[in-house]
Amino acid sequence: MDATLRLRVDGTEHTVAVDVRTTLLDALRERVGVTSPKKGCDHGQCGSCTVLLDGRRHLTCLTLAVAHDGAEVVTAEGLGRLAARADSMPGSVAVEQALHPVQRAFLDRDGLQCGYCTPGQVCSAVGMLEEAGQGHPSHVTEDLAADVELTDDEIRERMSGNLCRCGAYRGILDAVRDVARPQEPTTEPTTGAGA
Ligand code: FES
Ligand code: FES
Repeated sequence: MDATLRLRVDGTEHTVAVDVRTTLLDALRERVGVTSPKKGCDHGQCGSCTVLLDGRRHLTCLTLAVAHDGAEVVTAEGLGRLAARADSMPGSVAVEQALHPVQRAFLDRDGLQCGYCTPGQVCSAVGMLEEAGQGHPSHVTEDLAADVELTDDEIRERMSGNLCRCGAYRGILDAVRDVARPQEPTTEPTTGAGA
């Protein structure tokens, strides 16, 4: 049985017909044509399919598209564009090619190798920074009454749902730290995948 649903993806409205069993990941990739969310495990284990769904990070392989009629989806493809549109001319080359600060940090810190996990890592990092800013604790948060301090342990824990088969974890940590604590860069920019 098919269902018709509306999705706003990276700032553009789409109306798509999908089988009711279709995951949001497949709807995005195969119906909408946005392929930055990647299918890694298709079982909620790797994080490569992460997007921001109505502002919160979400594994799209684990959710049915029909459950999100009318939702706002932001993928890594649209992150920079949407952030830049807020204070620049929509449609300009500068806006269309803009990078979100987290994406820029991943490039500056070599937070990737093959890049397959990167769109999910970036969306997860953006969502995680927002969650921490709102005071959501993680498994390693010790003082639940205090503001969340994004220590390296906090960043590792909060990003632990996103796996990287290339092992670029050191660069990923450096990149997220640069955005979370811009006044405290603690390591030199990496030149390889890191460990
Ligand atoms: Fe969704 Fe791996 S593809 S978590
Ligand atoms: Fe290759 Fe992460 S950069 S899987």
